[in-house]
Amino acid sequence: MKTDTQFPLPPYFNINPDTALAALGDPTSTADFGKIASNCNAGRIDLTSRGLETEGTRRLRQFSTWEITRYLIPVAPGHFRRVLKQNPDLPQGRSETSAGAKWFTLDEVQRLRAFFGAQGFKSKGYLPYRPKNQPAKMVAVANFKGGVGKTSTAAHLAMSAALDGYKVLVIDLDSQGSMTSIFGGKVQDEWQTVFPLLARHYAQHLRQENQSRVDRGEAPLPLDETLTEALEIAPRDLVQNTHWPNIDLIGAQLNLYWAEFQIPVWRMAARGWKLWDALTQSLEAGGILDEYDVIFLDTPPALGYLTINGLAAADILLVPLGAL
Ligand SMILES: Nc1ncnc2c1ncn2[C@@H]1O[C@H](COP(=O)(O)OP(=O)(O)O)[C@@H](O)[C@H]1O
Ligand SMILES: [Mg+2]
Repeated sequence: MKTDTQFPLPPYFNINPDTALAALGDPTSTADFGKIASNCNAGRIDLTSRGLETEGTRRLRQFSTWEITRYLIPVAPGHFRRVLKQNPDLPQGRSETSAGAKWFTLDEVQRLRAFFGAQGFKSKGYLPYRPKNQPAKMVAVANFKGGVGKTSTAAHLAMSAALDGYKVLVIDLDSQGSMTSIFGGKVQDEWQTVFPLLARHYAQHLRQENQSRVDRGEAPLPLDETLTEALEIAPRDLVQNTHWPNIDLIGAQLNLYWAEFQIPVWRMAARGWKLWDALTQSLEAGGILDEYDVIFLDTPPALGYLTINGLAAADILLVPLGAL
């Protein structure tokens, strides 16, 4: 074959298969793949365990007198120390050395805040503001694009609201479960996510519809095992504590994605089912909206049915955008 010396052939031309095969190392066997898989698994365990205690839980840091009086309870540090001294029953904080800074858990900050709120001037705003007889404000963070900061935004806002003393619920609607890992949530399968709430809402709709079907002399639509089981589950059963005393979580994991396939099937079977109201109405019926001050919904990067439920539930919608 004639080659142009000015333009030599690239190295992958005219390769002799036998020479190439001899140049390769030993073939990769099933055992080698097993070793790669076990290394990957070790890496994954290492990653998920970072920042966790040995038993796999997270612990919230403590707050110093300086941080508390500057950011959490707006009183002068001197006044703060005096009030603590005068009230030995109040949390006194811990320090490494006798003259060192005093540190308090967020639970203790909450008790102190309640005390200052009860004692102090109403205008001082020690306590978080919550209008009476109003349901929790629901904040959804959504964008159909991934990696724009949805989860980070929702997580930081939730923590910020908790530091201000609000009672916060975080609901992870993203089957990637990043928000769930931030809050150290443990989710076995879809039955510990919002999935049963959506199923329950549909099951209730179906029961009502069946009533009218029977009245019209038509055969009722059957409630399968999933729907029957979902009717037994209340939102409260799905809520887990986090390492933040005033942040609770309804977590997510991969199986939650099943909802994206299941919801359209249910909707085809009962066209009158308002699928977008499923989440809000289930939370409302379960008393969750009275129990919390603010609810943050983290959504997946798609305009799927879970996101639609999040958008429909939201009083406030935040759409983070990547900077161009
Ligand atoms: N304001 C920000 N500035 C810089 N990096 C950010 C910011 N918000 C999020 N990130 C980073 O961008 C990545 C994606 O953020 P994430 O909140 O998981 O996005 P999403 O939930 O939209 O997929 C993460 O690595 C996160 O640490
Ligand atoms: Mg996310």
